[in-house]
Amino acid sequence: MEYVKQISDDLYWVGASDRRLALFENVYPIPRGVSYNSYLLMDEKTVLLDTVDKTVSRQFLENIRAVLNGRALDYLVVNHMEPDHCAVMDELVLNYPQLKIICNAKTMAMIKQFYDFDIDSRAVLVKEMDTFNSGRHTLSFIMAPMVHWPEVMVTWDCTDGILFSADAFGTFGAISGNLYADEVDVEKDWADDYRRYYTNIVGKYGVQVQALLKKAAALDIRTICPLHGLIWRENISWLMDKYQAWSTYTPEEKSVTMFYGSIYGNTENAVDILAGKLADRGIRNITVYDTSKTDPSYLVSEAFRCSHIVFASSTYNGGIFSTMENLLHEIAAHNLQNRTFAVIQNGSWGPASGRLMKDILSGLKNNTILDEELTLKSALKPEQEITMDQLADAIAASVLPEFQTKSNNEKEISAMKKYVCQVCGYVYDEAEGDPEHGIAPGTKWEDLPDDYECPLCFVGKDQFEEA
Ligand SMILES: Cc1cc2nc3c(=O)[nH]c(=O)nc-3n(C[C@H](O)[C@H](O)[C@H](O)COP(=O)(O)O)c2cc1C
Ligand SMILES: [Fe+2]
Ligand SMILES: [Fe+2]
Repeated sequence: MEYVKQISDDLYWVGASDRRLALFENVYPIPRGVSYNSYLLMDEKTVLLDTVDKTVSRQFLENIRAVLNGRALDYLVVNHMEPDHCAVMDELVLNYPQLKIICNAKTMAMIKQFYDFDIDSRAVLVKEMDTFNSGRHTLSFIMAPMVHWPEVMVTWDCTDGILFSADAFGTFGAISGNLYADEVDVEKDWADDYRRYYTNIVGKYGVQVQALLKKAAALDIRTICPLHGLIWRENISWLMDKYQAWSTYTPEEKSVTMFYGSIYGNTENAVDILAGKLADRGIRNITVYDTSKTDPSYLVSEAFRCSHIVFASSTYNGGIFSTMENLLHEIAAHNLQNRTFAVIQNGSWGPASGRLMKDILSGLKNNTILDEELTLKSALKPEQEITMDQLADAIAASVLPEFQTKSNNEKEISAMKKYVCQVCGYVYDEAEGDPEHGIAPGTKWEDLPDDYECPLCFVGKDQFEEA
């Protein structure tokens, strides 16, 4: 039976969801499924906006047959030629022989690449801001190249203020009854999927998304109808703000996410200890992930959320541990910017993973790699705690501006000690030194010459005790 949703007097959602598919694009896990949205406008002319993936074609064809209720399908607008949206095109042409296809020139070339049906006789070619009148509605077409693929355009219905946004503003997650973002708890149940979808699908194309956002800002958008996930008709600024941050590679949160690749757990142990030290220094919402356990799509998403990222890896056959290496290439492929990275390496005989990780990370634009780092030669040793603390201090100072001033002062003051002469009570204060006798402020006790004498009673260093 058909499963459709009426959006307005003459607009219907005729898409469908797939909860069976394990991997979207055969690579991204989708435990909550995915929807393929398609919209049917029942105006004087009938206009379908995009189709669906072939896995849900049966449901989709039933849906449009039901809404058309005996009318012919006059037009199909193809906003995006990726097969998750255009897979049913040839079947539509068979079912509705009079069908005209509205698309741009790049799309038309791709239709010919994917299909053998005669497109020349049925194509209505459109360019930037061309309009099409279906009766009550006027549609215009806005090019959005590389907001996933080069041929992508979005369709603007100025009559009702609806933006048919193609892959933009979409998300993973099947439609479960509630089709509208205002009918669900987006922040609690959907925000992570929105982020993971954006970062992995279009994250690389921030500049092109910015171009689309600028064009969209000029429109009085009342409803956004994307090709995946929820329809937005309230609180659209939530989505726009997220897209603004993601497309400019601006971290959503000043916090640290830590990724480790560890074979036997020693690298993991160091990461856990560092995470604890960062928490002690006041950093909140720290996350830690095992790169062998968590799919890289979730970690790319975390990398877009957080301002600071720690990469910790064992050396593996002279290289980076494989799951970490894969993650680094994924992050590089998604163009991550404006982040601060820290690196921990491990290796029992020739640690090399740190340098190799930095080689990949330094190929990314506009990031900082901290000088402070940590090398383990199998397992963290107690004497390495100083280095670990320096790394924690450097990360904390970078995450929390207030930590920088506090820590520098506190560190210097607390590191300075006092020594009392047991004979006369004279106090040597490292912070003050003894400028009268040529000893500069800040001179450590152990740096005083062996023949140092108390300036009051002239006994040697051995007569002093730490205060
Ligand atoms: C298959 C394999 C290959 C390794 N290759 C290297 C290597 O090329 N260079 C090196 O210094 N250590 C190498 N190691 C040692 C590990 O890097 C080291 O023991 C490990 O980092 C310890 O930390 P973990 O408990 O977090 O795995 C290798 C270990 C294994 C199991
Ligand atoms: Fe796409
Ligand atoms: Fe898509």
